[in-house]
Amino acid sequence: MPENRATAIASPNIAFIKYWGNRDPALRLPANASLSMTIASLQTETTVIFDERLESDQIEINGIPAAEKAASRVTLHLDLIRALSGNPTFASIRSQSNFPAGAGIASSASAFAALTAAASAAAGLELNKKQLSILARRGSGSAARSIFGGFVQLFSGDVNEDGYAEQLAPANHWQLIDLIAVVRKEHKSTGSSEGHHLAPTSPIQAVRVQDAAHRLEICKKAILQKDFLSLARIVELDSNLMHSVMMTSDPPLLYLEPESINIMKHVTRWRENGLDVCYTIDAGPNVHCICSSDDSFEVESQLRSIDGILDVFRCAPGNGVALTANNEQTPQ
Ligand code: DP6
Repeated sequence: MPENRATAIASPNIAFIKYWGNRDPALRLPANASLSMTIASLQTETTVIFDERLESDQIEINGIPAAEKAASRVTLHLDLIRALSGNPTFASIRSQSNFPAGAGIASSASAFAALTAAASAAAGLELNKKQLSILARRGSGSAARSIFGGFVQLFSGDVNEDGYAEQLAPANHWQLIDLIAVVRKEHKSTGSSEGHHLAPTSPIQAVRVQDAAHRLEICKKAILQKDFLSLARIVELDSNLMHSVMMTSDPPLLYLEPESINIMKHVTRWRENGLDVCYTIDAGPNVHCICSSDDSFEVESQLRSIDGILDVFRCAPGNGVALTANNEQTPQ
């Protein structure tokens, strides 16, 4: 029975220099280049089995059949892989994340990085990491970065082949810790994909995009030189700029909750008092507190004493996507 399968594991990433808005929404070519840290501990494991007996894709996410919107996004992504391999066979896909689905932590990066690696291997395609990154980007922009571990840059690219990520420094370059302070567990009402569409309606998006390459260079230098204070300043500026664009879109998007602002104020004060910590927030209310590993224990205990924090996840720099050993190829 021709049945080609592969399993891959990928982690999410937290953007230090964020992208918001797509220059080409269909290709998910980002409006600006971005820079992130892939985070360990949290991961998505995805198995793809192409099976000639199937009459449609069978998609299961965290133990239950995928809802229609998620399923059609996965099928669209598999169609790209089927077009590359020239084999129209449907697949069964099982995807499991080890972090709660409703924890408000972006799962599309780890999900589409794992799906891209597993599906392309199961389809018999031998893609290098750059090609995987380009393909993952088509599923979710930030997934392009989760192909690589450590500190990763995603180029914006004018055409499909130029929109890929590459590693700036490996995970062991700098032991930063991302303490994710969870303040809401429910799913956000406006996802990133819809938010990216609204970005051009903000009068300050053009200014944010215009200066992004400059911010990225400052961030890159801070990482390579392990200069925490420079990193902290640029990471907070970049996050605040993105949320300013969100708040000034039409209609406005306000992801921050009172608890998020409270944590931002505490983080600023802790840094003034000498702790190596800064905040950054994606398209949701949960706050990523980036710390030096030495100061992370003090920051974690301070965070846990603040009212309204439901959970704190502790994440070191992590590895890029990897296939697991149980992959099988049956000649078709
Ligand atoms: C705020 O990668 O989530 O996290 O392509 O629609 O899945 P989709 O968008 P997504 O956008 C990321 C937005 C961000 C910033 C960032 O990670 O750079």
